Parts: sequence; structure tokens; C-alpha cells
Amino acid sequence: MIVTIDGPAGAGKSSISRQVAERLGFEFLDTGAMYRAVAWAVLRQNRELTDESVVADVASKIDIDLSGGRVLVDGVDATDEIRSPDVTQATRYAASNVAVRMHLVELQQQFGREKDLVTEGRDQGTVVFPHAECKIFLTASPEERARRRVADLATRGVSAEYDDILAQQNRRDEEDSSRTVGPLRKADDAVELCTDGMTPEEVIQRLIDIVEERR
Ligand code: C5P
Repeated sequence: MIVTIDGPAGAGKSSISRQVAERLGFEFLDTGAMYRAVAWAVLRQNRELTDESVVADVASKIDIDLSGGRVLVDGVDATDEIRSPDVTQATRYAASNVAVRMHLVELQQQFGREKDLVTEGRDQGTVVFPHAECKIFLTASPEERARRRVADLATRGVSAEYDDILAQQNRRDEEDSSRTVGPLRKADDAVELCTDGMTPEEVIQRLIDIVEERR
């Protein structure tokens, strides 16, 4: 069974999807980490981020290993660095690159073969797994998402201004929604869940209920 969880930045998708997968005994795939890993590798190799063919070349050559709850890129642990503001900014060059998307979509589809999977991203229910048995579109208001992001960064020792985070998030939402390849979009057959005012535990339970109804 494939469960897709798509939605905008900061809707809590990553941690919630991971826990839903764990409780269901499903594999978990964080596809945002793959786009981030490509951007991280381009920066690390000191290559030109704005050159589409360079970014595509890097993506086609690196090995991204998401098993074990860490993000290993060619064997180097990049788990924390891929979440840094620099890499977050740079990820747009990977996400808007047609060749990179084709390559990563194929890797994601391979991952879903013969396994029960919870997969999280922007285009999982629309492009990568259009025939998924269960599709969820997870949202929250921009203000709630920005508040959560600031709190999340604080737990990792990073202080951030709410207004800056909100502005960055709005820009990322706009870029994610307006891109011509793999844009952020709710699949027609996805269940939309707005998580404003819900605790993470309530969201997890609700999602598990939605999956169980379709099992
Ligand atoms: O989910 P996360 O914030 O880690 O994603 C980082 C970036 O990767 C997003 O802003 C989006 O541009 C891109 N992304 C994507 N397609 C996916 C997952 C993420 O384009 N399936």
C-alpha cells in the first residue's frame, strides 16, 4: 500500500509522516531530503548552482541513502546540513530542474515497489504515485506554519525572526506552486487535512484513521 502525504512547507509533514509510517509498520520516504541532498552536493562540490546542466549532472552521479533515518550523500552524513538556511535556499535549483525531477521521481517510484510506503513531499500523489491507495494533502495556515517553524528551529538552537520565516515560507510556497514540473498541488482524490489547532498526536491519529479506512 502506498500512502502519499503532500503539502506546503512547514505543515509538519516530515515528523508526522515519519511517525505515521512507524506506527503502521510502513517504510518512510522523505522526498524533500532528496532535493535538499542534490543542492547540498552542488554546494559542497563548489559547482555552479544556477547552471541547470551542472545540477542535473551532480544529481545523476551522487548516491543518496535515506535508510537508517539519516541522509547520507556518497557516504557523508548530511542530515543536519541539508536543513540549514543556505541549503534550503539553494534547493529551489534542484526542485525546478526537469532532469533532476525525472531522476528523483524514478528513484522514488523504485522505492515504492513491493513495499508498504508512506511517502512525503509536494508531488507524491499527483506525479510520483498517481495510483496510490491513500492520498493526503496536509496543510496549515501560513501563520501557524511559520510559528511552528520558529519553534522547531529554536529546539535545534537556531534563533529566527517570525517575520523572516513567514516571508521565506510564502516565497517557497509560491515557487513550489508555480513551478511547471511537479508543482505543489492537491491531487483530486486526496483527503485534505488542515492541522490548525491540532496537536501533532491528533494529526497522527487522524492520518492513521484515514489510512485504516482504506486498507
Ligand atoms: O519538504 P522540504 O521542505 O524538505 O522540501 C524542500 C524543498 O524541496 C521544497 O521547498 C520543494 O521545493 C522541494 N520538493 C519538491 N518535491 C518534493 C519534495 C520537496 O520539489 N517531492
